[in-house]
Amino acid sequence: MRSHYCGEVNESLVDQEVTLCGWVHRRRDHGGVIFLDLRDRDGVAQVVYDPDTNEVFQLAEQIRDEFVVKVTGRVRLRPDGKANADMSTGKVEVLGKQLEILSTAKTPPFQLDEFVQVGEDVRLRYRYMDLRRPEMLNKLRFRSKVTSYIRNFLDSNGFMDVETPILTRATPEGARDYLVPSRTHEGSFFALPQSPQLFKQLLMMSGVDRYYQIAKCFRDEDLRADRQPEFTQVDIETSFLSEDEIMSITERLVRDMFRDLLEVELPEFPRMPFAEAMNRYGSDKPDLRIPLELVDVGDLLTNVSFNVFSGPANDPKSRVAALRLPKGGELLSRKQIDDYTKFVGIYGAKGLPYIKVNEKAKGLEGLQSPIVKHIADVIDQLLERVGAEDGDIIFFGTDKTRVVNEALGALRVKLGHDLNLLEKQWAPLWVVDFPMFEEDGEGGWTAIHHPFTAPSCAVEMLESDPENALSRAYDMVLNGTELGGGSVRIHDSDMQETVLRILGIGQEEAQEKFGFLLDALKFGCPPHGGLAFGLDRLVMLMTGAQSIREVIAFPKTQSAMCMMTQAPGKVDPRQLRELNIRLRKTEQPE
Ligand code: AMO
Repeated sequence: MRSHYCGEVNESLVDQEVTLCGWVHRRRDHGGVIFLDLRDRDGVAQVVYDPDTNEVFQLAEQIRDEFVVKVTGRVRLRPDGKANADMSTGKVEVLGKQLEILSTAKTPPFQLDEFVQVGEDVRLRYRYMDLRRPEMLNKLRFRSKVTSYIRNFLDSNGFMDVETPILTRATPEGARDYLVPSRTHEGSFFALPQSPQLFKQLLMMSGVDRYYQIAKCFRDEDLRADRQPEFTQVDIETSFLSEDEIMSITERLVRDMFRDLLEVELPEFPRMPFAEAMNRYGSDKPDLRIPLELVDVGDLLTNVSFNVFSGPANDPKSRVAALRLPKGGELLSRKQIDDYTKFVGIYGAKGLPYIKVNEKAKGLEGLQSPIVKHIADVIDQLLERVGAEDGDIIFFGTDKTRVVNEALGALRVKLGHDLNLLEKQWAPLWVVDFPMFEEDGEGGWTAIHHPFTAPSCAVEMLESDPENALSRAYDMVLNGTELGGGSVRIHDSDMQETVLRILGIGQEEAQEKFGFLLDALKFGCPPHGGLAFGLDRLVMLMTGAQSIREVIAFPKTQSAMCMMTQAPGKVDPRQLRELNIRLRKTEQPE
């Protein structure tokens, strides 16, 4: 139908006839001349109709925004002074000779330019319109470049693309499952995969050796800006490679891709043990662009009379940490401090004690703080420990360790963004030496990565001291986002059974849920390990998008629904009967 994409129309085509197809981005009437800005996925070209082309001109008059048209005309240079330097096609225009309306359009629900004024719900409801915006199409195009880059890289490094089932059994990755009822097996359900974890391990046992898949994963969990219920992983597994080798090849993939697609040379990724990340940044995915750190001060405060400090300082499960914001005393208003106090409340902190260091040389006099009188005896040591200088503000977290880490960790990131403290554009790292388990709050343990991750110790040590056992897991973190995670796996059935036992999964349940894996481990299993990247997060970071919804063609809302199709939806009672499902009556409020 067309001879060129709109974006291709430039000076090299002057005097040639072209046929373009696309959407009318804007129609303007200028003193008897009609201008159409014609848009397709490659760009916008200006088409001019003058009244000499009588019938065609009349047709052009009927055109409205977003009509789909086919245009034939001759390319010519725009008159002097009319060139548009912002457009790749801005030096030329097409003098329209023919015009065909291929489709009419109702008035769009919102203006399709880069400054959409409407809420995200309207954009999601009319997503096909939203995606017409060049900004959105460019993100999809970039995503496609990323996936093809990844495929090429992995193909040329001996990886094999293998598909794994979507209708399967529960794959424990820590979220709730999406279930699909079986019609042919009454009362039984498939689960959609939270990841292809077990299948990719089984493929190693089959001898595939290097596997990858760009795989859809499904997790019913609380959603945030970087989480979707249905998302995509670049899923990788290898046999006979150590964690160093797996980390090296996946790091190379990311660094090569940043270099080739973004012209960004990432530095070699530093490695940081989990314990250090938690201690210094309160997070296992620290944003190293922000030059603020948490400092432990509990040991200085065990004997002060102020219980808010001495309580947690004497409790092994608690932490007292300080976060110094250089010049923060001068930068932050009372109102801002109050707002940050509210902010840390989201993470369970009961307050945000602080000290403003006005003039250190004046001792207590030079400090401004509601708490300083309670800790006067240790204040010099404390100021020294955190490296306080005149003008600084020091915030404190004093609570259970988890609360302090989450609250001060989040405050650190918020201050970094609010006050523009970011020191560089990209800060990647590997977080390593994760513990195997964490307490589940009910006296038991849960796996920090997943139950198939190998510990770095022997079975006996694991059983005698699960709390202190470390795993052979690693996370790739970029700018405070967990881009990917992986591990060396257990390839020994005794070890696998031990881990399941520590997790409180008895033999019978283990056999029922993972019998196929436990069996397979007994039939000759190579040492193996891998990693999965979150593709949506990767593309989000590479495009500078604020949320992963911006880089997914048809995403779900925060409440896990599709605004456009209104999924999930009710189903026909007959369909439910076929599936042997009866819905419980939802109670009506009185
Ligand atoms: P994990 O659970 O760490 O590991 O997931 C791997 C990566 O997937 C991305 N991700 C998500 N992205 C968007 N929305 C979500 N709800 C979501 N959940 C996770 C993250 C994360 O780093 N089977 C293991 C991998 C392995 O061990 O090889 C796994 O799934 O970027």
